[in-house]
Amino acid sequence: MTVTLDKVVPWGRSFEEYAATFVLSKEDLEKRFLDCGGGPASFNCVLTRLGGRIISADPIYRFDSIDIKKCINETYEGIMEQTRKNKEEFIWGAIPSIEALGRVRMDAMKEFLSDYTAGIKEGRYVDASLPSLPFKDGEFDIAMVFSSPFSL
Ligand SMILES: C[S@@+](CC[C@H](N)C(=O)[O-])C[C@H]1O[C@@H](n2cnc3c(N)ncnc32)[C@H](O)[C@@H]1O
Repeated sequence: MTVTLDKVVPWGRSFEEYAATFVLSKEDLEKRFLDCGGGPASFNCVLTRLGGRIISADPIYRFDSIDIKKCINETYEGIMEQTRKNKEEFIWGAIPSIEALGRVRMDAMKEFLSDYTAGIKEGRYVDASLPSLPFKDGEFDIAMVFSSPFSL
C-alpha cells in the first residue's frame, strides 16, 4: 500500500470515546486488543498506561513523530473549517461544540504523539494495512476499527 502523508488527514479520537463507543467494560480492558486503523488516537497510549495490552496497525506508522505532528498541524485548521461549514450534519451530544471537538481531538493526538516513539520501539504501533495484517490467528481477543467519514 503506497501512503504519502499529504493524502492523510490525521484526526484522532480519545480513549474515552473508544471506551464509550465500543462499550468496553473493566473486564474487556484486560483483554488483548488490535486497533486497526488506529491513526493518531490516544486509545493505545492510555490503555498501555492502565496496564492493558494493545497493538495498533495503520499505514501512517511508517512515518516518524515529527512528520505526523507536522501533518496534524498542517491539516487541523482545514478540518475545523470544514466541520464549521457542515455543523448541521453532525449530532452534537457528548461533544457539545466545534471548539470542544477541536480540543478533544488535539488533546488525543498530543497524547498519541507523546507515546508514539516509545510505542514503535515496543511494537505497539505497527505499520500495516487491512486486509493483510502481519499477526497470527488467536493473537488478540478484541479487534476494532473506529473509522467513519460521517462521525465526529
Ligand atoms: C479517521 S482515522 C481514525 C483513526 C482512529 N481509529 C480514531 O478513531 O481516532 C482512519 C485511519 O485509518 C487508516 N487507514 C486507512 N486505510 C487503512 C487500511 N487499509 N488499513 C489500516 N488502516 C487504514 C488511516 O491511515 C487513518 O489513520
